[in-house]
Amino acid sequence: MRNHGPGGGSSSILIVGVDRNGMGQLREALGADAVLPPTSLSYEQAYSEARRSRPSALVVGFDTDFEEAVRLGNQLTSDHPNLTLVALSAGSDPDRIRAAMRAGYREFVVLPDDGDLLRQAVHEALYSNASDNEDRGEIIAVCGAKGGAGCTSTTINLAAELCPIHRVVAVDLNFSMGDVASFLDLKPTKSISDLLQELDRLDERVLAGSVSVHKSKVHVVAQPNEIDEQEEVRGDNILRLLQICAESYQYCMIDCGTALNEATLTTITVADTLLLVVTPDVPSVKNAWRRLQLFDRIGVERSRVRLIVNRYEKRSQLTLDDIEANLGLRVAASVENDWKTLSQAVNEGRLVRDVNKKSPAARDISNMVTLITEGDEFVEPTSPEEKKGGALSWLFN
Ligand SMILES: Nc1ncnc2c1ncn2[C@@H]1O[C@H](COP(=O)(O)OP(=O)(O)OP(=O)(O)O)[C@@H](O)[C@H]1O
Ligand SMILES: [Mg+2]
Repeated sequence: MRNHGPGGGSSSILIVGVDRNGMGQLREALGADAVLPPTSLSYEQAYSEARRSRPSALVVGFDTDFEEAVRLGNQLTSDHPNLTLVALSAGSDPDRIRAAMRAGYREFVVLPDDGDLLRQAVHEALYSNASDNEDRGEIIAVCGAKGGAGCTSTTINLAAELCPIHRVVAVDLNFSMGDVASFLDLKPTKSISDLLQELDRLDERVLAGSVSVHKSKVHVVAQPNEIDEQEEVRGDNILRLLQICAESYQYCMIDCGTALNEATLTTITVADTLLLVVTPDVPSVKNAWRRLQLFDRIGVERSRVRLIVNRYEKRSQLTLDDIEANLGLRVAASVENDWKTLSQAVNEGRLVRDVNKKSPAARDISNMVTLITEGDEFVEPTSPEEKKGGALSWLFN
């Protein structure tokens, strides 16, 4: 969360190349000290998953494929020097131990004998990561260029992609017409209004008791059940709520929609990343341009903004190049126009990936995860005025 210490970071563990028996031993050894993923990854999956989810520690089985385990260690040590690597084996072969150390493994453990060593290595990895980041999560504001651009779909489906490796909350800032909970078929008993009313006693524990939990493990701070006619929410109250969210979760996905009020403007101001969701048509791009002007006025640096083109298809009115040229901002990601999957997802209150994992929209949303976990490389924008003669240059005159 901006202005409140460095954000991001994780405190998670990945397991690689470990069989069921080994998984059981790991669970027993670590007990309540760490939450382990349900299954082990293959060596082939490990590198890309580590890039994607930025874990604090990786426990790698040395018995399934010793050479792959060494190769993985070498690769990860050079690319992710802060990652703690632990080798796991059924026996302490001196040659293997030396190879592991050369490849950057911090410990070589044989269970159950080395349980203490394992717990200590994992604890230190999680602890140092948390303190480096002051234990603050990232705020990701999802803003629409126009109504129906796809903010809510992006918020929940991307949040679900970040789970279960990360702790993620989705917050619905649309007090009157919000639909995050209904998109996930949740029936919340508490809403954001309830939380704001008990701000003086709000802490991580109260928050945890107030969220609705989806089966994907996404936690949701929902909109009120009834249309709320209460006076406008104060910015400092929203700030307090965001602070508690950032203390409790690694990623806080905030559905800001298109509304501009104290709640959304405060969120936009403190967000680490802003996803500006635009559809590939002239009215939407025109509104995105206005939104970017507003961001400039309130001091949001362009380096924090990621442009997402939703409902894109080859025959769209505007190409990705048109949009980039006219907004002076690179398109960070696009999601295909996938009416069939999205309409089923929305109507049935299901995630896109649960409707059809192989659908174009599920693929594109999954590809967006690295935008959040890795921080996308920022490309210096080109001023639209410099693109004289661009197809839409009239938009900005
Ligand atoms: N990639 C997509 N392909 C096809 N349809 C989509 C896509 N993304 C969203 N939609 C559809 O567009 C509609 C609006 O999506 P969504 O509710 O996510 O947008 P929104 O920006 O949150 O809208 P609102 O302004 O009402 O809050 C939904 O019916 C959804 O099914
Ligand atoms: Mg919405």
